[in-house]
Amino acid sequence: MTTSVLSDLKIRFSKAIAAAFGAEYANHDPAVAPSKDAKFGDYQCNAALGLTKKLKQKPQDVAAQIIVNLQVDDMFEAPTIAGAGFINLKLKLSYLESQLAKMQKSDRLAIAKVDKPDRVIVDFSSPNIAKEMHVGHLRSTIIGDSIARILEFQGHEVLRLNHVGDWGTQFGMLITYLREVYPDALTKADAIAIGDLVELYRAAKKRFDEDAEFKEISRAAVVELQAGGAEAKLAWQLLCEQSRREFQKIYDTLNIQLEERGESFYNSYLSDVVADLRETGLLQEDQGALCVFLEGFSNKDGQPLPLIIQKTDGGYNYATTDLAALRYRIREDKATRIIYVTDIGQSGHFTQVFQVAQRANWIPETVQTTHVPFGLVMGDDGKKFKTRSGDTIALKSLLEEAVTRARADIETRNPEASDEFKQDVAEAVGLGAVKYADLSQNRTSNYIFSFDKMLALQGNTAPYMLYAYVRVQGIGRKGEIDFASLDADAIKLTQEPEIVLAKHLLQFAEAIDAVSEELFPNRLCQYLFELSQKFNQFFEQCPVLQAEESERISRLSLCDITAKTLKLGLNLLGIRVLERM
Ligand code: ARG
Repeated sequence: MTTSVLSDLKIRFSKAIAAAFGAEYANHDPAVAPSKDAKFGDYQCNAALGLTKKLKQKPQDVAAQIIVNLQVDDMFEAPTIAGAGFINLKLKLSYLESQLAKMQKSDRLAIAKVDKPDRVIVDFSSPNIAKEMHVGHLRSTIIGDSIARILEFQGHEVLRLNHVGDWGTQFGMLITYLREVYPDALTKADAIAIGDLVELYRAAKKRFDEDAEFKEISRAAVVELQAGGAEAKLAWQLLCEQSRREFQKIYDTLNIQLEERGESFYNSYLSDVVADLRETGLLQEDQGALCVFLEGFSNKDGQPLPLIIQKTDGGYNYATTDLAALRYRIREDKATRIIYVTDIGQSGHFTQVFQVAQRANWIPETVQTTHVPFGLVMGDDGKKFKTRSGDTIALKSLLEEAVTRARADIETRNPEASDEFKQDVAEAVGLGAVKYADLSQNRTSNYIFSFDKMLALQGNTAPYMLYAYVRVQGIGRKGEIDFASLDADAIKLTQEPEIVLAKHLLQFAEAIDAVSEELFPNRLCQYLFELSQKFNQFFEQCPVLQAEESERISRLSLCDITAKTLKLGLNLLGIRVLERM
């Protein structure tokens, strides 16, 4: 098993720099990167220029000394120096061939697991009970799942947490309304036909806003729930179960694994947050509320902004729960990396929560907390995503439409196929397209939801990628090839398109590393898109089944490794491939 060429090279350059200039340079940034322009080779080291000042030597001389101490001849041709001491490296074909052979023989494409796995928590999806799961939650679900998959593949221990909004004042109103309209639901064990929760929420809210008495009773119901009152608790449970069932349908459709640990879970830890913050001296009273004054945040009068930890009435806020959750995740879950996937609108919230936790000394140096923000989902018209009547779009119907459209497409392409086959293809393509469209964007930008674009067969889309995979399987069927029994050691790279494809295949590990570090899944999408393009160019220019025997085997192996990379890569995005479509 190997790590990526890039991470290997970084280590080798660091060693060379230390060997050349002394151990105090061991941590100097080796500044290694893939070359932007193939005419300079495949990788570059730009460290020399940065060292000239300290060493008081010319960059070319610095580079020459690095090269003397560099050991890369197993992987690269002799290094060359260009311009202001840039060291250029070109991969040896023999190395490429041997790496490809390793990839083909391995079920994880020869990508090693990390030496020191992190305990990672990915907090994602996290819809709210009794409310609709909306497109923002869909983005969180798709992006969070992909991040979790990539980290899991690397060998990290990942806890996928669904931080559902299942606690808070809205339950007072819901419970009160339930008691009014469905009293049976609360006394009879399985009379839980409370139907459409979104409707229920709307109706309850209306009552709450219009009727002062209802409002008062609702407030009392919150207190009752928080005090653990049996009937209030039962009502709350019914609401949660009903929502859970609805959410689960979406998760099943999208094949998402998640562990529910909602806000209510942290209820009994909220008072610890208060006690702890008081002890560290951070807690202050402000107009009856307990708060922490934030650094670097001020209100419109320029006064320091308080983060309210406990309200005057004793209630707690969203932020308090997140503080309790963060503390719990570090102390009890022993997480070393905590990732939150939400819309960009919550960036301020997470900055504030992280700041308070930091100042309270809850976050050891070994723990990394990261907010992974994403932009809004927009309609084709560039406006916020809504139905024609202005309602928010239900996720279920959105996913159904993607599948229906994919089905219509296969009906025209392949009318003779069986119903079962068509439906399978429609689901893989339709749902794959929705996921891929989301993941292939830089997540921080707003994302335009367009069925036409995401289902297009050309361009950076799921169908394009799925076709590249199917193409290889088609070659296999046509030539009656058993890919598993090909001699991987027979790979010989002679033609330019083969070499270009091979080099790209070798960069798969780098793409995965990049996503796991920076948490931008679009980097992996871009990699797979380029892979499909390079494969198609190779396939157009180099005959495979028609080639003479030794070339044929070598090229079939290239096809096979490409297909495996596409399959694994798409799998890491939560997308399943098809053998035919
Ligand atoms: N329920 C929240 C929402 O719908 C998202 C929760 C995100 N996770 C967290 N730990 N705050 O916006």
